[in-house]
Amino acid sequence: MLLPDSKTELVRRGNKVVYDLGDKIVKVFNETKPVSDVFNEALNLARINECGIRSPKALEVSQLENANGWALVTEKVPGTTLAEKMTAEPQRFGEYLEMFVDLQIEIHGYTSPLLNRQRDKFARMIDSLDQLNATTRYNLQERLDGMTKEFKVCHGDFNPSNVIVGDDGQLYVCDWAHATQGSLLPTLPPPTCSLPSTARTRPRPTWSSTATAPTCPCRLCVSGRASSPLPSSLVSAT
Ligand SMILES: Nc1ncnc2c1ncn2[C@@H]1O[C@H](COP(=O)(O)OP(=O)(O)O)[C@@H](O)[C@H]1O
Ligand SMILES: [Mg+2]
Repeated sequence: MLLPDSKTELVRRGNKVVYDLGDKIVKVFNETKPVSDVFNEALNLARINECGIRSPKALEVSQLENANGWALVTEKVPGTTLAEKMTAEPQRFGEYLEMFVDLQIEIHGYTSPLLNRQRDKFARMIDSLDQLNATTRYNLQERLDGMTKEFKVCHGDFNPSNVIVGDDGQLYVCDWAHATQGSLLPTLPPPTCSLPSTARTRPRPTWSSTATAPTCPCRLCVSGRASSPLPSSLVSAT
């Protein structure tokens, strides 16, 4: 595809730029992004579209003209991200957080039988950790085997910058690159934390469109992943 001059840049990250094309959104990846990852994100999105979750429609995966790399084109959802709303209206943060949590619960109510399996993804991640010795990896695999088998849709990067409050008043979820079907437990913070409550006290978090979810100082839960002591392959692999 040829990118039009009229495009507007929304977000620029390490290996991609996201542009607004007016009625469409295009995620443009550079040559370091494996093409299989781009197709995987498109396939995830198509499956999510089909299972009924409000999400932008997948439109096209195409090779860039005049540059190396691939692009994923989706329908644009006119609206504002929940992250932007939280930043713009801090006094309504609690209300927005509640909408965010309700939406995650709603998503977990869907199934998509052909989506990649969370268990397979975790098994691959554990296997790839050469920083851990074979016995530890084996123990982790055993614990993974012992987990309850569930097949709920899990977004994998559920944060307010991936939730769009549409102009029609509905919530839409974008950015399904890390989606799997599995158990919702690994996607939630643990109910209890070993740290004393004083150590867990943090100022109320805020999100920006480029930020990830705030980190939990317990360093164990998903929300603590940005400061997680785990190797990056375990926290960021697709
Ligand atoms: N279909 C869409 N409609 C409207 N805005 C979108 C859409 N897709 C992405 N965006 C905007 O672009 C931002 C980045 O897109 P995203 O797919 O989340 O990329 P990344 O993988 O870099 O987080 C989103 O946070 C949102 O603001
Ligand atoms: Mg995103």
